[in-house]
Amino acid sequence: MAEVIHLEIAAPVSSAPPKHVQQRFHVKSFGCQMNVYDSERMGDVLTAQGMAATDSPDDADVVVLNTCHIRERASEKLYSDIGRLRQPRRDGSRPTIVAAGCVAQAEGAEIAVRAPAVDVIVGPLAYHRLPQLLQEARGGRVIDIDMPAVPKFDALPARRIAQASAFLTVQEGCDKFCTFCVVPYTRGPETSRPAADLIAEAAALVARGVREITLLGQNVNAYAGGLSLSGLIRELAQIDGLARIRYTTSHPRDMEGAGGDDLIAAHAEVAKLMPYLHLPVQSGSSRILKAMNRAHTRDSYLATLARLRAARTDIALSGDFIVGFPGETEADFQQTLSIVHEVGYAAAYSFKYSVRPGTPAATMADQVPETVKDERLARLQAAINEASLAFNHTTIGRRCTVLLERPGRKPGQLIGKTPWLQSAVVSLPGAVIGDLVEVEIVSAMPNSVEAVPCATTQSPV
Ligand code: 5AD
Ligand code: SF4
Repeated sequence: MAEVIHLEIAAPVSSAPPKHVQQRFHVKSFGCQMNVYDSERMGDVLTAQGMAATDSPDDADVVVLNTCHIRERASEKLYSDIGRLRQPRRDGSRPTIVAAGCVAQAEGAEIAVRAPAVDVIVGPLAYHRLPQLLQEARGGRVIDIDMPAVPKFDALPARRIAQASAFLTVQEGCDKFCTFCVVPYTRGPETSRPAADLIAEAAALVARGVREITLLGQNVNAYAGGLSLSGLIRELAQIDGLARIRYTTSHPRDMEGAGGDDLIAAHAEVAKLMPYLHLPVQSGSSRILKAMNRAHTRDSYLATLARLRAARTDIALSGDFIVGFPGETEADFQQTLSIVHEVGYAAAYSFKYSVRPGTPAATMADQVPETVKDERLARLQAAINEASLAFNHTTIGRRCTVLLERPGRKPGQLIGKTPWLQSAVVSLPGAVIGDLVEVEIVSAMPNSVEAVPCATTQSPV
């Protein structure tokens, strides 16, 4: 049982009578896919308590701010939202304010002092205790930023699923300690959920109409829950009705050498495993990678990609990049630009290095001036856009499936994802969201492709 700290400087929770019988909650997500997933799970926990979700924080009785700490200005965004929420409404009420997520984990005590209006401070490993914490907050503010031995997943209720594509967290935390990153401090060590639980949960999702499952984890390819990640993927592929499996985010270190053989083989052998891999490299310079404590080099990373491409020739690759890491020279940055061209990424995400207090890189010498970071980021993004457009062009003429996800801008248009995770715009009379349709890609833009229905005798990817 985790410790719940009651602070002296407790602020009273909303004193005005509730406007409606059924309590309403609003969860705002600030971050990554893991953060969005956690927001949905907090929603599940509150729904299981009889509360109803609302899109607007203005008519919510409970507002959960699910923060992300990975890059800059995370806490400023939190404090500005709290500032708005603490203003009394017309009827004198204000919502119960919950600060959740990685900023809450890393800066819980500071939030308590700086923002007395916050009623509950809860870290990412304690969401299953949210109802109990809300209850306890009636007596004064509570903080729960413990990293419990019992995984939160065991205590979470069954999921509500509205879409044909669902995320399933299989692994949480990180032991890698890249010198720029706060995740090992906010999410704790790598832990994996038991494979049997995941297979049962995946089967339940599919029974409710899910066609695509993305296995989620900070280091998903370090999964070790009784099976390896490839073992889990092979088991999930046996589920009838499940059409597509994806996983994210992987670390190059866990894919290198014999350790990566199984997973790379799965890309060759498991048809339901989609030909897409997000494998962040962060920098093209081995010198900078060493300073980042990435435990892979430019060459070892490229060797892994060559093995993947040998297993699955059409695999689409994406990555994350940081520009302006301490000590990064123009020559180092040129190596980052050249790796973008060499790999031919289908997509990539790029960030300016931001100092995360408490991490080793924060106190490294040779911090790069902001103006240099801005200029490098612009050049890198131009290179990435060029690579994405070139990749999209290579897919013109390919026949594939598209899983339809949302309406397009024009009437009759729907937007979905190709196997290579491109957004595809399709006009297909009679098709509805959730359908897996067969198409041919006919044109390419930097961030999407256009596809037309195909009556094919060959089976598409
Ligand atoms: N500064 C900039 N980008 C960062 N990331 C993680 N920490 C930092 C930081 N301090 C990026 C990395 C990671 C992605 C999720 O966020 O590229 O892969
Ligand atoms: Fe952060 Fe590195 Fe762990 Fe990724 S692998 S979460 S960048 S410490």
